[in-house]
Amino acid sequence: MFFVVDHPCVRAKLSLLRDEATDSKHFREYVGEITCFIAYEALKNLETEEIPVKTPLCETTGCRIRNDVAIVPILRAGIGMLDGILKLVPAATVGFVGLERDHVTAEPKEYYCKLPAAGPDSLAVVVDPMLATGGSLAATVDVLKRNGFSRIVVITILAAPEGRDRMKQLHPDVKVYTGSLDAGLNEHKYILPGLGDAGDRIFGTL
Ligand code: PRP
Ligand code: URA
Repeated sequence: MFFVVDHPCVRAKLSLLRDEATDSKHFREYVGEITCFIAYEALKNLETEEIPVKTPLCETTGCRIRNDVAIVPILRAGIGMLDGILKLVPAATVGFVGLERDHVTAEPKEYYCKLPAAGPDSLAVVVDPMLATGGSLAATVDVLKRNGFSRIVVITILAAPEGRDRMKQLHPDVKVYTGSLDAGLNEHKYILPGLGDAGDRIFGTL
């Protein structure tokens, strides 16, 4: 399942993010803000439970999130989305999957994995700005499923049709939310029009 969060505020911020003149400081800020917009939509099916709340005027019934939410940024670029999503679910735990695409083959290589324990109500929310070939995301979802996570939602900032189709084929049960479905990939498997290398732009390693 694949959803584009099509909203004028997202489209306008995405244009700033794509602009090659945007420096790392502003790039990180836009990534955080766009993550909040997309997460707002992606997390709308979280379950809640009632709690009593005493306002200055009376007692009422409020709610809190019932699921154990585990945020899983894919290293490195996913770290740029972490603060944004933690604003919405501050009680979430955080796990990390480290993958790097080989520069020649574009195949992902895993170099790190540290995840919280999965419980019956757990929801894993994978964050990575770029869904290109889908290799990194599909491998991350494999890791999560092997570690007991059965409910998985993904938030990306940009996606290519190739990555969307790979996820539909390999993990049709996983919902992927993105800010834009771009046109495709270039010969180096970079998203077009895209925004370049997300990790390099977030961390200033151009
Ligand atoms: C980027 C990006 C995704 C992956 C997407 O990471 O953040 O994880 O590429 O490409 P794919 O869909 O073809 O797998 P990269 O491997 O460049 O590592 P980095 O985050 O450390 O820069
Ligand atoms: N990774 C990136 O950072 N950008 C792309 O366009 C594709 C993969």
